[in-house]
Amino acid sequence: MNKILKALVTSCTLIGLVACGSGNTNIPEAHYSNDGLQLDEPLTEYSQVTVTSLKEGADLPIGVAVPAGGASNSIFVSEERKNIVLQHFSQVSAENIMKMDALHPSQGNFNFDAADELVNFAANNGLSVHGHVLVWHSQTAGWMESFSGSKVEWIDMMENHVTQIATHFSGRLQSWDVVNEAFLENGEYRDDGSIWYQNIGAEFIERAFTTARSADANAELYYNDYNLSSSEPKIDAVVAMVKDFQARNIPIDGVGFQMHIGADSPSADTIKAHFQKVVDLGIKVKITELDIRMNAANNDDALTPDIAERQKERYYEVVSAYLETVPAAQRGGITIWGITDADSWIINLYDQPDWPLLFNSELEAKPALQGVADAIADNQ
Ligand code: XIL
Repeated sequence: MNKILKALVTSCTLIGLVACGSGNTNIPEAHYSNDGLQLDEPLTEYSQVTVTSLKEGADLPIGVAVPAGGASNSIFVSEERKNIVLQHFSQVSAENIMKMDALHPSQGNFNFDAADELVNFAANNGLSVHGHVLVWHSQTAGWMESFSGSKVEWIDMMENHVTQIATHFSGRLQSWDVVNEAFLENGEYRDDGSIWYQNIGAEFIERAFTTARSADANAELYYNDYNLSSSEPKIDAVVAMVKDFQARNIPIDGVGFQMHIGADSPSADTIKAHFQKVVDLGIKVKITELDIRMNAANNDDALTPDIAERQKERYYEVVSAYLETVPAAQRGGITIWGITDADSWIINLYDQPDWPLLFNSELEAKPALQGVADAIADNQ
């Protein structure tokens, strides 16, 4: 990028992504590959991004997952990322630093420094925090994987983990993902790979919820999972679990739909129907980890204006589906899983180019950001 263009782009970003172009074109932008390299293509036109703050005027939490702690792209290292968070979002989730391995690296030793830094940052800037995550089969601590004991000892170990952590953050978090990914796509409990299910059985789930509520009376407690907007057996299993909890007074306040989804599926109708199943239970629905893959077939190596436009429409469709289906009182909010395309976990997961998020690897707002803003403005 030549220096003048670079300066223009930078100043446009700094003044808040207001329209810096004319007609229906945004600032002149080059195409970028995932690693931010300029590709050999003509300057081109993305549709205009005029939103200056996503959260402004939104009557629900608008969240983003942030890298923190020792991550090289931590918002405490990258001033630009931090500014994006402050400008556009009203809630943060920790992308990694509040997981089991990070908070509880060896038995009985808790490491709260990085998470406290994030929670304090949020409090000082008027952001709420969604805690992610108390009990999950993945990113457990090594000592947990090699723990050996009776069922009662496993229960003690897990409940102590939940108690210590939920107590530490009590009063400072809006909500927790209490249990993550306990079901499979066929609606059965995840057995393979889950030390919790294998050693405690399905009751680990309700025990985690009951223990979390005892430690923090006010945080909203969520069950969180992926493919809940696409897999019918999976959402039905979660609905059955919630009904059972409600019948037995096990606390649960909402279901988190991760929503790592594709450009074309699930359809808006399917997404709405699956949200509706949770709405009907009278608890909250939260989109906890939204990102939208645009290059699943691996046919593209750059974010073309056409792809950017389709992604804008898809973000619009998903956010509209949520706002149309979930009544205001049951909206837990919408969280985007990462700040820039370069940071997205999707890139590592599939090891191919993609652009799943709202900002490109140059920290510039994409049309997708406008898609979310438009959906909020049109449907609230
Ligand atoms: C991902 C993070 O984004 C990555 O940085 C990490 O390497 C693996 O975990 N479902 C979840 C999140 O609940 O915790 C995952 O986050 C993405 C899938």
